[in-house]
Amino acid sequence: MCGIVGYIGSKDAKDTVLSGLQQLEYRGYDSAGIALVHDHEIKIYKDQGRVDHLREICNVSFSSNLGIGHTRWATHGIPNKLNSHPHISNNERFVLVHNGVIENYKKLKLTYLNDYKFYSETDTEIIANLIEYFSNQGKDTRDAVLTAISELEGSYALLVIDKKDTNKIYIAKNKTPLIVGTGESGITIASDVIPLAGHCKNYISLEDKTFGYVTSDEIHLFNYFNKEISFDMKQLDISSNAFGKGDYDHFMLKEIHEQPSIIRHLVQEYFDKEKINISTEIIQCIKNCTKINLVACGTSMYASYMAKYYFEKLCNIPSEVFVASELVYSSPLILDKPCFIYLSQSGETADSIAVMKKFMDKGFPSIAITNSVNSTMANLATYHLNIFAGKEIAVASTKAYIAQIVVCAILAKAVSGQKTNLKNNLSKAALAIEKILEDKILIKNIAKEIVKANDLFYIGRGIDYWVCLEAALKLKEISYIHTEAFSSGELKHGSIALIDQGVPVIAICTQEGTNSIVRSNLIETKSRGAKDIVFAMESMSEASDDFIIPNVAHYLAPIVSVVVCQLLAYYVATLKGNDVDKPKNLAKSVTVE
Ligand code: F6R
Repeated sequence: MCGIVGYIGSKDAKDTVLSGLQQLEYRGYDSAGIALVHDHEIKIYKDQGRVDHLREICNVSFSSNLGIGHTRWATHGIPNKLNSHPHISNNERFVLVHNGVIENYKKLKLTYLNDYKFYSETDTEIIANLIEYFSNQGKDTRDAVLTAISELEGSYALLVIDKKDTNKIYIAKNKTPLIVGTGESGITIASDVIPLAGHCKNYISLEDKTFGYVTSDEIHLFNYFNKEISFDMKQLDISSNAFGKGDYDHFMLKEIHEQPSIIRHLVQEYFDKEKINISTEIIQCIKNCTKINLVACGTSMYASYMAKYYFEKLCNIPSEVFVASELVYSSPLILDKPCFIYLSQSGETADSIAVMKKFMDKGFPSIAITNSVNSTMANLATYHLNIFAGKEIAVASTKAYIAQIVVCAILAKAVSGQKTNLKNNLSKAALAIEKILEDKILIKNIAKEIVKANDLFYIGRGIDYWVCLEAALKLKEISYIHTEAFSSGELKHGSIALIDQGVPVIAICTQEGTNSIVRSNLIETKSRGAKDIVFAMESMSEASDDFIIPNVAHYLAPIVSVVVCQLLAYYVATLKGNDVDKPKNLAKSVTVE
């Protein structure tokens, strides 16, 4: 969601901030803005639209050594210029950008800011005025910032500039990531490490309830008791090239192609010959529990169904998948000794974090399986496992899905202690994906046949149904075609009424036990006019099938069959001319509930 970049140093702040914002575009946004210090004045440029548009309107001739910028994904107030950040206090002294949501902003407005004028509908504008309010009471800026943030309930990563002291950027962080990086030519602050690459050698990811300020060569951090805190910087080992598209037209296509090497990398990371490298505490935590609760959202939730399958089949532990956003506000019966496993690519998903806090407060252990060792969930959970997928930039998740499934398969095997051929089967799955990638022109041809569809249905049973859920999500989010996944047996209980002449129905058939029954269900839809399409595993394929999936172990079929569906979604979206990497209305990491 929203992105923040700030810079203070000897380079041109405008270039650094705007290119940083461009690197954060993948997070999803609808407006962008920048504040630049020039000659002790603060100049603000902002509007609805892309960073390229901001670059055009911020066509300044001066150079500046301090700037803060923001990409906004609208929550409070529609996407327009007035609601865009930066926001400014009434006396024009304090200018700030904010990621997050202030839950008590209406109350704060009534309590402190009755005499203030507001120009936007945002929760953010109250923070600028709250700082002004406390500064007007005689507090110095650091104290005014501290007093203001101590009043805030909710999440925030904040960058604040004070017109009366333009050699500092004030910073504050709670529940939303904020990273500060140091380099030879200054200090860069951002909501993610990507904008630091190429500028910074070291970085620190701020803890919750930390605030302070940076100058061009110093970082000062304080806790909310105003006590200065010491900290260690970590080395930043990423180059700016790591975040390029390479020879691919889109990040999504690049990330789909990375999947075989991610599987091989996971085998290297987690296997030492036949022994699995997962800490005994994690294994013991699962062995000690009587039920595994898997909590996640979206694609990560669909990956959780395979995790459930592995834990039940291999470890004999009952497992249940929960939608994080539902579990926050419900109280399921928790019996005996549960263990909570959270799957999240970003590790920053607000709904999952809320559930994690809720159940950790009740004393239940948590294992976060994420793609970011520095994320909120990785830091908060009792234990953490890395999925080693590398930064996922395209909004539509691809490689994280298969990496999550692979890590859960390895974890379940470690817990069960069973001798399975997993390592070997993972290598075969990587080869099978490579074969699919070689044949992707066939998938592009199928995409041409369905590109005009208004509705589309994926059908399957069991494991294949869970892949259908992910396949349908992928297609709808980037092609904007209304797509649903149905367990094929459920069709005749109501949903088959939706089948009209020419509606594509895609069956996924990779499991011996359900192959023929899914095919029968597909014939039922065909008899009612549907255009039938079959993606089948080689061992059970028929001459008329549309795409043959190379044979792999049945329990790894999802990480292979899903690639066909990812490519189908990709080609349909490109044929429609959609912005594949940044689909409309979506954000990469969903940091609001
Ligand atoms: C879909 C997609 C989302 C995410 C969901 C959870 O392509 O990316 O459905 O899977 O927002 O995000 P994480 O995994 O970061 O918790």
